[in-house]
Amino acid sequence: MERTEKLCALSAPLLAWYDKNKRDLPWRIDNSPYRVWVSEVMLQQTRVEAAKEHYIRFLRELPTVSALASCPEDKLLKLWEGLGYYSRAKNMQKAAREIAARGRFPDTAEELEKLPGVGKYTAGAVASISFGKPSPAVDGNVVRVLSRILGDAEPQEILRGRYFAELVPAYPQGRCGDFTQSLMELGALICLPASPKCLLCPVCGICETKSDALPAKKEKPARKETDMTVFVFKNEGGIWLKKRDSGVLSGLTEFYNKEEKLSAAQAERFLCGAGLQNVTLKRAGTHKHVFTHLVWHMTAYIAETDEDVAALPSFSSMRFYAKKEAEESVSIPSAFRWCLKYI
Ligand code: ADE
Repeated sequence: MERTEKLCALSAPLLAWYDKNKRDLPWRIDNSPYRVWVSEVMLQQTRVEAAKEHYIRFLRELPTVSALASCPEDKLLKLWEGLGYYSRAKNMQKAAREIAARGRFPDTAEELEKLPGVGKYTAGAVASISFGKPSPAVDGNVVRVLSRILGDAEPQEILRGRYFAELVPAYPQGRCGDFTQSLMELGALICLPASPKCLLCPVCGICETKSDALPAKKEKPARKETDMTVFVFKNEGGIWLKKRDSGVLSGLTEFYNKEEKLSAAQAERFLCGAGLQNVTLKRAGTHKHVFTHLVWHMTAYIAETDEDVAALPSFSSMRFYAKKEAEESVSIPSAFRWCLKYI
């Protein structure tokens, strides 16, 4: 069978399998574009199990495009807490404002792709699942499935682009959304990265690989490693936090930090130089935080003081929070959340 024929032969067995085996997932209850869009954005960097609870809470708090468009940023970030990649939430809000202003949800992949933060994958997912269009949604899982079926050993990014085009004629009329989801579901339940369950696979008969030999493994670029010293400024009643003003996690709340490793003596000298006189410094703990392209090796010091930290020019970007407020209503990204145990 040649490639197009093979791709066109997928839908019948795959949809029959999907109808019997698909998981009950909260975003499958209805196909409205807002709900599908939110789920696909969450699922881009987050596992299905981890996304479920966040998804339910997010939809309960922000059930419509206009609710998202008008949500205060602090509340939005709190709802996103734990999912990481906070720019996704901010971009979704920008897009929601555009959709609300326009008065209708774009219904083609081309139009959807013009929204902030919406790439070819998300656009294809929403256009096919919510609007029944033959618009492929090819993520890493779908590349894995198709590269095995077709026996393609080229680099994954090249294959991804090719599959977006090649899949279009394989879309079955009337069941475009289910076809998109059946490819994802096969990747999640059968065509696993390691040890795929080929004996249970509904399209094993036409698969060129029948093993985990493909896709070719990507060489990952080395992550940049950075040392960081974190100061947990606190007094009896609470702690000082600040907004991060640049780089990764920009705009989110953080503990005061410096991108270098300071010994206890150096840390003490730094605080003294900044004008903090009455402070007890204690080394607290360490933590390694891994981002996609970056690793932080973090060392925390507890800096207990009865002075007003934010009154010093070096720390004027800091704000005081009562303990309960810091723990319950401020969204602190997980890179810094571990320091909450020191307050
Ligand atoms: N991963 C990405 N999108 C998905 C979906 N709609 N269902 C299950 N897993 C997914």
